[in-house]
Amino acid sequence: MNQDKKIIFSGIQPSGNLTLGNYLGAIINWLPLQDEYNCIYSIVDLHALTVRQVPAELRKRTRSLLALYIACGLDPEKCILFVQSHNSAHAELAWILNCFTYMGELNRMTQFKEKAQRHSDNINAGLFTYPVLMAADILLYQTDLVPVGDDQRQHLEITRDIAQRFNNIYGDVFKIPEAYISKVGARIMSLQQPEKKMSKSDENPNAYINLLDPPDVIIRKFKRAVTDSEAVIRYDVDKKPGISNLMNIYSSITGKSFEDIEKEFEGKGYGDFKLAVAEVVAETLKPIQDKHKELMANKDYLDEIMKEGAQRAERLSYKTLRKVYRKVGLVPKVF
Ligand code: TYM
Repeated sequence: MNQDKKIIFSGIQPSGNLTLGNYLGAIINWLPLQDEYNCIYSIVDLHALTVRQVPAELRKRTRSLLALYIACGLDPEKCILFVQSHNSAHAELAWILNCFTYMGELNRMTQFKEKAQRHSDNINAGLFTYPVLMAADILLYQTDLVPVGDDQRQHLEITRDIAQRFNNIYGDVFKIPEAYISKVGARIMSLQQPEKKMSKSDENPNAYINLLDPPDVIIRKFKRAVTDSEAVIRYDVDKKPGISNLMNIYSSITGKSFEDIEKEFEGKGYGDFKLAVAEVVAETLKPIQDKHKELMANKDYLDEIMKEGAQRAERLSYKTLRKVYRKVGLVPKVF
């Protein structure tokens, strides 16, 4: 690791197949950071356990997500790619930080409220303290910047609050991290209910684009996307959430401004526009899907990346963990 470079940490849960929202809200922004920063990207499997998982599927999705990280362009030579549960420091620091986090602040987390509603038969303590584990992920590496989508803003705030509280008591133990949220792509909405975010756990598969969806499925899903009856391609999130979402997707991929897109599709119908969006998405995903397939056939290579990533992550995080243990008064191991 280059000591002069700032540290970036982010992660994605292997709780479902990745969606276009994860790609445009997170991964696409991670790519250009690889050269400028020390980047650490995790597959946060412990977080996924807050809702019931089928064990064999979770294992498969964890590997598949690692392959997708690489297929999307993350280079294991340039950044640390690892599985969260392979570094026990995450769970250890999370416990300590749990003792510095208030029930009241966790109660205010909108994602907890939403998930508790969706999984009302399993409102477990892990779901409640989920943001503390996320704080541990970030703080372990003395992270400067956390590139995430807009929905993680509140979790970043609580991470900063916990770190500041700890530092106020024990001195400068943690770096206070900043969120890094891009303007376009930060909030990709459901194709079926554009006032709701696109989510891999949506019951309706037409609501999201899975990164591994074949081109014909992508085209079908975009054709079915909910729009409005005005028949004008114009960016207006309040009045035209469906079209605005499609414009956001198109803009994130092509780099075109909303103004340019409005001009490009002036006088054209929604059918043409939906097809154009579907085609750029399918074209962008095709090489990623091919590379993913190739990587999934190479188990040894993925194992090696996982092993190396975990070892590097462990080495880095133990410095922080040891300091925390000492500060709070735990007896250091002498064996
Ligand atoms: P997760 O797994 O739900 O999502 C991973 C990343 O994708 C972004 N994202 C979106 N961006 C735009 N539009 C959408 N519809 C959309 N859906 C998801 C998320 O903002 C996120 O950046 N708690 C985190 C995982 C996590 C983490 C961390 C992130 C655990 N520890 C430490 C950063 C740092 C989560 O559930 O993300």
